[in-house]
Amino acid sequence: MAPIQETKIGSKISNWYALNGRKNLPWRENITPYRVWISEIMLQQTQVNTAIDYFNRFMKKYPDLAAIKEASEDDIYSLWSGLGYYRRASYIYKAKELIHKDFSGKMPESYEDIISLPGIGKSTAGAILSIAFNKPYPILDANVKKVLSRIFYKEAFEEKSFWALSEKILDKNNLFKFQQGVMDLGSQLCLPKNPKCTSCPVNNNCLANNKGKYPLIAKKKIKKTSEYLRFNLIKQKNKYFLTKNNTLGYWKNLWIPPVEHHEPSNIDVVHNLSHRKLNISFFESKNNLPKIEGKWFSPEEIKKIATPKPIFDRLVNNG
Ligand code: ADE
Repeated sequence: MAPIQETKIGSKISNWYALNGRKNLPWRENITPYRVWISEIMLQQTQVNTAIDYFNRFMKKYPDLAAIKEASEDDIYSLWSGLGYYRRASYIYKAKELIHKDFSGKMPESYEDIISLPGIGKSTAGAILSIAFNKPYPILDANVKKVLSRIFYKEAFEEKSFWALSEKILDKNNLFKFQQGVMDLGSQLCLPKNPKCTSCPVNNNCLANNKGKYPLIAKKKIKKTSEYLRFNLIKQKNKYFLTKNNTLGYWKNLWIPPVEHHEPSNIDVVHNLSHRKLNISFFESKNNLPKIEGKWFSPEEIKKIATPKPIFDRLVNNG
């Protein structure tokens, strides 16, 4: 195999994107820094297919920074309902406040300013700068890591060297196409098992393809603690009684049914948080009203408030 020529890798990926990329994803059209920012926050923890509808609804209500200027945190939460990882919605709220206060209502253009905003780490900053401002900053999300680990045959993740590799293959002449392309390559071709190397534009540059062995960098294993929660679904006239959570040490300020910790028993659904495994059971009652503050919501109304995904699925989707 010829030695790897990093410059060619970048342009091959950009050219491949121009022909084969998913160019109709909504955040790849009508590019503005704001649209790129919101989409990249959504895509941090949400699959592309799920993110599409949420992104479109978000843009319909708040098409730009001026439109979102007066939004409350609850307004933004309501567009996040069912998406999970609500901290992201809270970060968007805090960041837009700062953008209006410190940056005259315009997305800042320097790396230092962008990364100073809540919810934006190195990779999201790189995405905004390269995709929206055409500045040569690398990205390093899960897909890019996987592609790099294959091209350069790395069996273990090493933060610094992966950033250097991501920067090395960057096609500085076609930043938009390259960045979108490398993410599409990771999700469409460079699959965990049975990667589609015959269709891959950089199969000749790829050490993994050359060896016929495809390293997969293991996700960091986090030891999770198990919790057992029982939610009391109190329903009257098609409305559920919900309370703003301030008792559980997570899901802060989200609307939930009254809840208690419970011995391991029947489990209706298991929901994983980053550091916890929640074993959830539901029981339904009509009159068991606890002495806590709360409000009544119909399933339609629940769609518009922030409630944890397993609660949303049960009350709105009847899951
Ligand atoms: N994941 C993170 N950013 C993305 C993007 N712009 N397109 C597709 N998937 C992504």
